[in-house]
Amino acid sequence: MYLEAFDPAPDQTDALLRAVSDLVGELVTTAGQRPVLGAPRGEELVEGLLDTRPPLEPAALEPVLAQVRAVLATGVDNAAAGELAYIPGSGLLSAALGDLIAAVANRYTGLHGFTPAAVALEQGVLRWLAELFELPERAQAVLLSGGSNANMTAIIAAREKHADGRADLACVYVGEHAHASVRKAARIAGIPGAQIRVCDSSDGARLDPEAVRIAVKQDLADGLIPIAIVGAAGTTNAGAVDPLDALADLAAELGVWFHVDAAYGGFFQLTARGRDRLAGIERADSITLDPHKSLFLPFGTGALLVRERDDLAAAFAEDADYLRDHSDDLDALPDFTAITPELTREWRGLRLWLPLQLHGVAAFRDALDRALDLAMHVYDRLDADANLEVVGGCPDLSIVTFRVPGDDAAQDALLRAVHADGRVRLSTTVIDARVALRLAVLSHRTTADTVEVALDLITRHAAAHVAGHRPGPVGREPDLVP
Ligand SMILES: Cc1ncc(COP(=O)(O)O)c(C=O)c1O
Repeated sequence: MYLEAFDPAPDQTDALLRAVSDLVGELVTTAGQRPVLGAPRGEELVEGLLDTRPPLEPAALEPVLAQVRAVLATGVDNAAAGELAYIPGSGLLSAALGDLIAAVANRYTGLHGFTPAAVALEQGVLRWLAELFELPERAQAVLLSGGSNANMTAIIAAREKHADGRADLACVYVGEHAHASVRKAARIAGIPGAQIRVCDSSDGARLDPEAVRIAVKQDLADGLIPIAIVGAAGTTNAGAVDPLDALADLAAELGVWFHVDAAYGGFFQLTARGRDRLAGIERADSITLDPHKSLFLPFGTGALLVRERDDLAAAFAEDADYLRDHSDDLDALPDFTAITPELTREWRGLRLWLPLQLHGVAAFRDALDRALDLAMHVYDRLDADANLEVVGGCPDLSIVTFRVPGDDAAQDALLRAVHADGRVRLSTTVIDARVALRLAVLSHRTTADTVEVALDLITRHAAAHVAGHRPGPVGREPDLVP
């Protein structure tokens, strides 16, 4: 099939959607069974794709889609159930459908006056987010491309509020396990790298408020300007939750901004256990969330909640002579361009609104509860295994970190051995200057069976390592994606 027009005729549109829906249908229905590792890495495609240039005349749909299929048959399939590495992101068809509708409709939602109802649809779901974290009515949430952008937006707002125009004197206080994007955000905001204070943990995992207090005191004595304390509601390394209440107390006492990076852990707030563990988050000036992590949305959806909508406006509102021909008369609706770094943006709200409508909030809550249960099960099994040491004790959320006896190379070897099977993927990090393995349960596709596969592989390879020999075959030994 050839597309003769940018806007195809109805029968062509149907045929096109059917061809794409065949591919999408296959992806969705096989996602739970596909191995996360084991596909060829696809190096042989790389050269050809790098050399590919768009044709002057239309290419036929079928070979073009075949190229897409060829790409998708390679590489790490991180949407698979066995993705237990880093922070798993799974992707929901319902959100992708929202994207498709939003992209085809292509409504401009940066200013509310053009299409108030589309902005209201987004604002409704943003209010739900703010209410989930018990923020006051004057709070405002915004959807951004991810957690890194959300952290950056928060730090810029904090700088505008507290640095008095002197970013060069501003200091930000983060934990040693804070995500790198927080330090990056501070640098982008113009805060000198040396004034991004990486403060000690009280227990090796959670930011110590006393360490922050000491650093602030010294900075004040040196004539610097403390502007923000950043806590983590689920560190990337180990899923640890910083003492948010104590950090909120300290921020209030010092009169600085309190930002919580809940990119990974935030949506556990939907569960009773999560809400308990995140206590204090509701006192934050701003909260980073990543619906593309713990709400299973496709990559490209982050969110920032800010207690005072005016703080966002102070940081991002800008006049433009050419933006005159619209009315901004509906006070209940935000102009996203005036409260974020972006002017033109996709109608992001639909990709969040549609899944919440179609699945209902309880489905997300239950999936996250299951992730907490599975992580506890992993912890119990690994903790009971004499060949393994669980690092950092019982998980706060859904990440378990562990080691086999031996040096860093032994940990890397265990990872390689587990990965040789292809069905599950773990990752490693460095905790207390030593490599540790980590297993993160978050994908909505990860089941008890997936976790059993991982546990079987980990415990059998750990036993073999301790005994000093390789275990027997554990099933398939596929082509490896390292
Ligand atoms: C705690 C935390 N903060 C921030 C980020 C960055 O988010 P993103 O990758 O969406 O930019 C991550 C990503 O893993 C994270 O785990």
